[in-house]
Amino acid sequence: MVGPHAWRGVGLKTSRLAVLVSGRGSNLQALLDAIDQGALPARIAGVFSDRPRAPALRRVAGALRWSEDARSFPDRLAFDTRLADAVAATEPDWVVCAGYMRILGTSFIDRFRGRLLNIHPSLLPRYRGLHTHQRALEAGDSEHGASVHFVIPELDAGAVVAQCAVPIEPGDSVNTLAQRLLPGEHRLLVEVLGLAVTGRLSEQAGLAYVDGQALFRPLRLDSSGHLIIPDASTSL
Ligand code: GRF
Repeated sequence: MVGPHAWRGVGLKTSRLAVLVSGRGSNLQALLDAIDQGALPARIAGVFSDRPRAPALRRVAGALRWSEDARSFPDRLAFDTRLADAVAATEPDWVVCAGYMRILGTSFIDRFRGRLLNIHPSLLPRYRGLHTHQRALEAGDSEHGASVHFVIPELDAGAVVAQCAVPIEPGDSVNTLAQRLLPGEHRLLVEVLGLAVTGRLSEQAGLAYVDGQALFRPLRLDSSGHLIIPDASTSL
């Protein structure tokens, strides 16, 4: 379990987070709140968007915002190069896609690989891509969830670090299911970033590692919203 304020007194440097957003930014807000509350030893280095009107941008001071309209660039590489240069200029330790709805090309991913995370609203490997709530409902699943994973060029296919799950109830709609899941998503993202910024999380050869142990299955949140981390003597 990461535990609240477990990092205090450890003498860690404050990690810098670059956060990529496209929409409302509730996941970004969860990170901001955790930082404000002293529960996440990090600072926001910058917030980056492919959509200049994204409400998420307004959650941080103007000096931290970067946005360009991706549609005004000739191709994906041109936009991704501009974005990557802007992200790199803020010298982030970790780059977090938090509701970033544009596919990142290989050139961007290669530049930040191993410190590039995404939150995806499904229990990966189920439902890569879009419309995950709808697809879980249509499949008649009994549970749904979210995953935080390392980003690799194949869409939503990188090593999954951790997941949270919620039941699917009779009569659920896309909206009711999304609302039930969202608080778990926020906890999940904050908890995984807690591992990242305290130097406990890494990726090598397509596997996620926590405390030097390979994760052969994703970590899960417990009922109080903390990650369950098996002790080093047991297989992760
Ligand atoms: C979240 O469900 C996230 O998992 C998905 O897009 C949504 C973004 O929500 N990738 P917000 O912009 O963070 O509120």
